[in-house]
Amino acid sequence: RGKRAFIAGVADDNGYGWAIAKALAAAGAEILVGTWVPALNIFETSLRRGKFDESRKLPDGSLMEITKVYPLDAVFDTLEDVPEHVKTNKRYAGSSKWTVKEVVETVKDDFGSIDILVHSLANGPEVTKPLLETSRNGYLAAVSASSYSYISLLKHFLPIMNPGGASISLTYIASERTIPGYGGGMSSAKAALESDTRVLAYEAGRKGKIRVNTISAGPLGSRAAKAIGFIEKMIEYSYVNAPLQKELLADEVGNAAAFLVSPLASAITGSTVYVDNGLNTMAIAV
Ligand code: NAI
Repeated sequence: RGKRAFIAGVADDNGYGWAIAKALAAAGAEILVGTWVPALNIFETSLRRGKFDESRKLPDGSLMEITKVYPLDAVFDTLEDVPEHVKTNKRYAGSSKWTVKEVVETVKDDFGSIDILVHSLANGPEVTKPLLETSRNGYLAAVSASSYSYISLLKHFLPIMNPGGASISLTYIASERTIPGYGGGMSSAKAALESDTRVLAYEAGRKGKIRVNTISAGPLGSRAAKAIGFIEKMIEYSYVNAPLQKELLADEVGNAAAFLVSPLASAITGSTVYVDNGLNTMAIAV
């Protein structure tokens, strides 16, 4: 049987989540995705109308099939956690069972188990503010959506993950070195995610024989990155200064993710793996 993957954080065909889904589909995995509730309608409509068909193409010419799209809001663990104003919000009221616990229950009812969990989501409402100007709520929201969301997904999925399976998330080097402009507590959230990767690798390894790694990716002009405002500058900086002077393709991150969740990486866990044309190794701009 092929492997089954759940990829949280796919809402268009531009981001890393989509590229990871494609790389896993090309390797023969069955693809389930979790899509942020407010983005669900437009994503499903675009999929249905064939808007993504060109980018669904796999190397063998076939089109990636997404077996099922699950609405998801990874800042809520259970229905009891959802405040009234969200429950009654028009965009949320239209779908149901989108808290982490409910999504996992639905996946379990639908398929029984998964082999691969991908976390490709982040959100920081105050990302454009310097850390010194970030509010407590903004900081906690960044960590909730971008770091705890991973703990919650892994915690809930672990009981239905087949032993030998693997999980991966996406991080950014602003966690370890200062990147002015990556604010709102997002740098802190990525530092937490990387530290948690090590601890969760230990716990999920012992508990369920599951590997846990994170990819520190170079800059990509995704929807989320464009919201930060300086992505074009970062892409240009990387192109000029990285050891490999080439555009970083989302597919390159997708391929690295496919490797890391495959048996080829069976002894790799708890690692932060750089997929950034080598930019992280440079100490000076050249
Ligand atoms: P993206 O926009 O394709 O992905 C982010 C996704 O998160 C979106 O689909 C959005 O709907 C979803 N999302 C936001 N809040 C959510 C919530 N509460 N529940 C469920 N889903 C939610 O953008 P991108 O850039 O591909 O981001 C994927 C991951 O890659 C993120 O962790 C990001 O921090 C990371 N990354 C991105 C880099 C870049 O330059 N684009 C560089 C390094 C890491």
